[in-house]
Amino acid sequence: MRRKAVIGNWKMHGSRADNAALIEAIVAGAADSSAECAVCPPFVYLHEMARLLRDSAIVLGAQNVCAEAQGAYTGEVSAAMLKDVGCHYVLVGHSERRTLYGEDNALVARKFVAVHSRGLAPVLCVGETLAERETNQTQQVIAAQLDAVVTLCGIQSLEQAVVAYEPVWAIGTGHTATPQQAQDVHAFIRQRLAGQDAKIAAELRILYGGSVKTGNARELFAMSDVDGGLIGGASLKADEFLAILAAAQP
Ligand code: PGA
Repeated sequence: MRRKAVIGNWKMHGSRADNAALIEAIVAGAADSSAECAVCPPFVYLHEMARLLRDSAIVLGAQNVCAEAQGAYTGEVSAAMLKDVGCHYVLVGHSERRTLYGEDNALVARKFVAVHSRGLAPVLCVGETLAERETNQTQQVIAAQLDAVVTLCGIQSLEQAVVAYEPVWAIGTGHTATPQQAQDVHAFIRQRLAGQDAKIAAELRILYGGSVKTGNARELFAMSDVDGGLIGGASLKADEFLAILAAAQP
């Protein structure tokens, strides 16, 4: 049985005080959760958030990472630094990174390697644009996104990882994939990876992301290959996020 997970991606929101208040409310409300709960605050608040999470079961994650290990990369943050401040998860290949910052599959795969080789857990984000869906390229696009990582890092590296299916047309738009649309892509992802290693594919957690909210979380999470969610906007309100977490409990 795969344990469900709900990960909050806070993106670039809030002040130091806002982030602390949010985490305190989530810590208080998530204490009895049987589903895994993780949050990805902005880089500059990670250290403080780790301290606030110290006595809780909530897991800390980062939203991005540098592919390089160290050196003259002004403004970048390494996987070792993220580990040092207490992160476990690191998002790689979020669609905003791919589209706004030009991260291609090759760079995302290198970031995945950087995270994995430090003993952290990559959350590999994949997903198609609306134009790609409308021209029946969804599977082809996602296959290329997965293959870039598997080719560079090996199928074994997926053992520690999580995959997040986030259709670009659903992120922050209010247009959620239907449970069946999500299930179909999740099943495709699992099936494609099963071609390389059936056990790893069967145990891999595949989260859905893209306008998840309290009103649609339960039916999405009820699909057999949907193992939880990566939550953007709705993770910024503790009540809403906790309700989504509750929807992931059996
Ligand atoms: P959203 O974002 O929930 O606001 O659509 C999801 C994400 O970007 O991870």
